Amino acid sequence: MADERAYSPGLEGVIAAETQISFLDTENEEIVIRGYNLLELIRRVGYVDVVGLLLDGHLPEQARRTELEREMVTATVPETIYEILAKLPATMHAMDRLRTAVSALAGFDPEANSPDPELDRARAPRLIGQVAQIVANLVRSTHGEPPRPFDPQYGFAANFLRAIVAREVTDAEVRAFEQSLIAYSEHELPNSTFAARVVASTLADVYGALTAAVASLKGPLHGGANEAVMYMLLEARDAEGMEALIRQKLARKERIMGFGHRVYMRRMDPRAQLLKETLRELVTAQGQGEELLAMCQRGEDVMRAEKGLYPNLDYYAAPVYYLLGIPIELYTPIFFAARTSGLLAHIIEQHRDNRLYRPRVLYTGPRGLHV
Ligand code: ACO
Repeated sequence: MADERAYSPGLEGVIAAETQISFLDTENEEIVIRGYNLLELIRRVGYVDVVGLLLDGHLPEQARRTELEREMVTATVPETIYEILAKLPATMHAMDRLRTAVSALAGFDPEANSPDPELDRARAPRLIGQVAQIVANLVRSTHGEPPRPFDPQYGFAANFLRAIVAREVTDAEVRAFEQSLIAYSEHELPNSTFAARVVASTLADVYGALTAAVASLKGPLHGGANEAVMYMLLEARDAEGMEALIRQKLARKERIMGFGHRVYMRRMDPRAQLLKETLRELVTAQGQGEELLAMCQRGEDVMRAEKGLYPNLDYYAAPVYYLLGIPIELYTPIFFAARTSGLLAHIIEQHRDNRLYRPRVLYTGPRGLHV
């Protein structure tokens, strides 16, 4: 008989995995990534360094870093993946197209069915590169346009951004984008990472586990919030409009996207604080976007006063992506592309020391019925 006292709706507060990858230390306001503070990583190193850290357990030496970046940038996406994407209805949500593509990648890996942690670590850089290229070309592929391949003379973050926006990009733009990639790279056990670990725990392969994570991340309560934030900002138009819109939504008991977090709930997500700095720097570098910054600040002030709620990362990632000229439908796919490294680290860790996830229920249905 399952014990009613052990039941925690939404698994709130439940410790569901032992990990050496990351930890949200809310008491000390630190996001720990393999011993480092995530904010320090965002400020001091590049996304490829964080990929090395997540996969290898330590920051990469120069040679390993170069090898990782080369594998990520030169990874090729099978032509068939783009042909499949081109055949999907243009109305299909970008995350649904991405989910289909990630699943289909399995067909082009002769060892797809081997849930071997060492093999997964070896193919991880290629997978991260493939996912980024698929994401960068998601919109293009639905319009029947040829994909923009990555160019080995540029780094990973620059390639990813250039392929998305299809133009030359400045160093300031690449740095802002790269900071968002690191901010999104890993964050303990959110719904999508849990979904990936649950699937991996059946000894299913990495493609199945990643596909489950895309499905989870699409939801507006999770990764889908970043695009929802942007639609809200566009609807609001200016700071006054932002305050009025939030007040209307609160009066209708609607949730305000980009606020609140299961773990941080009544505190600011440290990643949001950092991306707010990134937004400020981008506004200064570009000499535009002051109004967007003012709108975000107004929204933050209203939510703190009215609900005691603070922004999460999605709230500040959205305006950063907007100023970079990224199509809104790609915001959540980019979140997934950045998180692929963290997800792979979790899938590998799960397979290294596996125990099947199989919880129990609190049954509240009828008993004793007869036909
Ligand atoms: N807007 C308005 N009220 C909110 C919000 C919000 N964004 N978030 C929480 N609340 C309120 C709830 O209405 C509830 O109030 P009540 O107790 O009066 O009913 C209370 O705060 C607790 O909310 P729960 O839903 O129980 O908290 P939970 O931990 O389940 O939710 C979640 C966390 C889903 C992230 C929630 O804060 C939310 O819906 N936020 C908006 C979506 C969002 O931004 N998601 C991104 C998450 S971070 C990320 O994926 C990078």
